[in-house]
Amino acid sequence: MISALGRRLEGKVAMITGGASGIGEATARLFSKHGAHVVIADIQDDLGLSLSKELESASYIRCDVTNENEVENAVNTVVSKHGKLDTMFNNAGITGANKTSILDNTKSEFEAVINVNLVGVFLGTKHAARVMIPARRGSIINTASVCGSIGGVASHAYTGSKHGVVGLTKNTAVELGAFGVRVNCVSPYVVATPLAKNFFKLDDKGVLDVYANLKGAALEPNDVAEAALYLASDESKYVSGLNLVVDGAFTVLNSGFCVFGQSS
Ligand SMILES: NC(=O)c1ccc[n+]([C@@H]2O[C@H](COP(=O)([O-])OP(=O)(O)OC[C@H]3O[C@@H](n4cnc5c(N)ncnc54)[C@H](O)[C@@H]3O)[C@@H](O)[C@H]2O)c1
Repeated sequence: MISALGRRLEGKVAMITGGASGIGEATARLFSKHGAHVVIADIQDDLGLSLSKELESASYIRCDVTNENEVENAVNTVVSKHGKLDTMFNNAGITGANKTSILDNTKSEFEAVINVNLVGVFLGTKHAARVMIPARRGSIINTASVCGSIGGVASHAYTGSKHGVVGLTKNTAVELGAFGVRVNCVSPYVVATPLAKNFFKLDDKGVLDVYANLKGAALEPNDVAEAALYLASDESKYVSGLNLVVDGAFTVLNSGFCVFGQSS
């Protein structure tokens, strides 16, 4: 359903990495409903292509975010077809192996996660900035995580990569702000996407909602998409450098120590 604010991305062009599944897919659907042309950039060709055909105005580009040539070419293709890039959503991510002890982690496993989650965001930001700087406007949105501000809920590689995404968001917000380009990130709590279901061995329900401090609501991919919609739209025109946490106050409190009575 479209909000009272109407179609908030009418005429905008948005590229979404990891747009074929989960949070990226939900965002592609929402951005499209709000009038954007959506470019789904992913490595899951069948899913990406079929989603692009379902949407009002969308296309699919195969783009491995760890490969600079592919990111550069994808951005160039978007600009040559549509004349501009208004929003870059650097959202592709992986968890890597579900190993907890650093003694069991190999360097190559660690690097694989950093490559997608952090180097991928760096490359997406760099090539979006290359075309947004001359336009003197644009919105770059990165998917970080609650693992970008606390420790202990994912692997070392994942937590390290997401802290890196928050830092990169802040640093690039400062540099690119001089050119009218905004950079922000969204930080979800656990959402039952293929990534989280596989890592946490979840069923379709967000069974980990019990750990969030906000009760009576369950986090869904569309809730993260709504946060990204705000950051992509002109309603957030003065918002930059923000880590927009979508976690039901999970990172605010360790519920083992609380002065308020907790009703369950
Ligand atoms: N699901 C959660 O609980 C959760 C919580 C916090 C943050 N996140 C983050 O949200 C983002 C989206 O994850 P999701 O949960 O929707 O998972 P998902 O697995 O449903 O989607 C991730 C997408 O990224 C794509 N991808 C992976 N490697 C890629 C690469 N090298 N190049 C291009 N695309 C690639 C995948 O093909 C997939 O379509 C990730 O950055 C993830 O770390 C997820």
